[in-house]
Amino acid sequence: MNAAPAGAVTVTTPDTRYDILIESGLFGHASTWQGLPAASQAVIVSNPTVDALYGNALATAIAPQHRQVSRVLLPDGEAYKTWASLNLIFDHLLAHGCDRKTVLYALGGGVVGDMAGFAAATYMRGVPFVQVPTTLLAQVDSSVGGKTAINHPLGKNMIGAFYQPARVVCDLDTLSTLPARELAAGLAEVIKYGPIADMAFFDWIESNIDALLARDRAALAHAVRRSCEIKAAVVGEDERESGLRAILNFGHTFGHAIEAGQGYGAWLHGEAVGCGMVMAAALSAELGLVPAAFVGRMTRLVQRAGLPVQAPAMPGDRWLELMRVDKKAEAGNIRFIVIETPGRAALRSAPDETVLRVIRRHSAPLCAGPGVGSGAAT
Ligand code: NAD
Ligand code: GLY
Repeated sequence: MNAAPAGAVTVTTPDTRYDILIESGLFGHASTWQGLPAASQAVIVSNPTVDALYGNALATAIAPQHRQVSRVLLPDGEAYKTWASLNLIFDHLLAHGCDRKTVLYALGGGVVGDMAGFAAATYMRGVPFVQVPTTLLAQVDSSVGGKTAINHPLGKNMIGAFYQPARVVCDLDTLSTLPARELAAGLAEVIKYGPIADMAFFDWIESNIDALLARDRAALAHAVRRSCEIKAAVVGEDERESGLRAILNFGHTFGHAIEAGQGYGAWLHGEAVGCGMVMAAALSAELGLVPAAFVGRMTRLVQRAGLPVQAPAMPGDRWLELMRVDKKAEAGNIRFIVIETPGRAALRSAPDETVLRVIRRHSAPLCAGPGVGSGAAT
């Protein structure tokens, strides 16, 4: 096996091992693409927004590796993370006579990455794929670890597979074109790693949040690298989420309920997770695990990142109904990732009254009328 390139973060699971490359200018380095599965055909899966920015650069970069490079573009947005979009990939692969050695390249954010990964996991029972994440959220989280999925109207990411990529290529240059709202959404998943695993990293984010928002290259490089290191360590210990990996879902039980409840795409995933982390921190305080001061600290950082800290108005029973569809639920019991002590997380259930108290304190009032709690990062 080749040694990992200098500066790469390596993910090791029982069945595979792959590198996450994190640098500026990666598209243009021949070494970025060397050593990947050789195949005559490559298919770039992307969407029109990202393809217009980086499609040609990627196609040119990987051309020496493959006899033919084609592209399939999916409609842009969380609302299109569906069977219909997935089928567009299968239609393309079959229409182009793609065999089981064909390599898929997922070029885009988490929506493209999750769908391309699921297509790779299932087309002819599995073809290799490379993650080329172009959002901060995808670089620090979704491209790493092999979770692939589409949404179901009744629940987020409910249909999918664990399927690891052959490589993850995080070219930091792509973050320069990311809309500010998407950058903030990615920061939610960066912040997440602090309370669940590394409070020194949380301190660093607090000190560097302005640099991150200003897209300072060194700050972004550190944030992506440290996030990937933490995620790689967790995935290496528990690839299929039989235990530890669930901590990566901090804020997601509340967050997924916001996303599904408001209609996919109304709130960005990272916005919902940011607000969900504040609620999960508040639940941890309600359960007597962390002091109220910790909730205040989380709230301030999420707010400084430009993310909402007040959930949209939804009836309590609707919240509970949505959260029961969460993949961590067991026998209808909702389970949350709570902070046991800052830097350490655990999976716990909580009485409905306690959960509803947290929801009441951290949501817009039900009588506030339409528009309250929209996805705008206020
Ligand atoms: P996204 O994929 O919708 O991308 C956000 C927007 O940014 C899109 O409009 C996209 O076209 C655009 N975009 C992407 N790169 C760009 C660039 N460089 N310049 C300009 N525009 C660009 O959203 P996301 O936040 O990247 O991903 C969210 C998804 O990731 C959710 O579906 C979530 O469930 C999933 N996710 C998966 C995992 C996992 O482990 N698999 C982890 C976290 C999140
Ligand atoms: N983002 C959650 C996970 O990868 O497990």
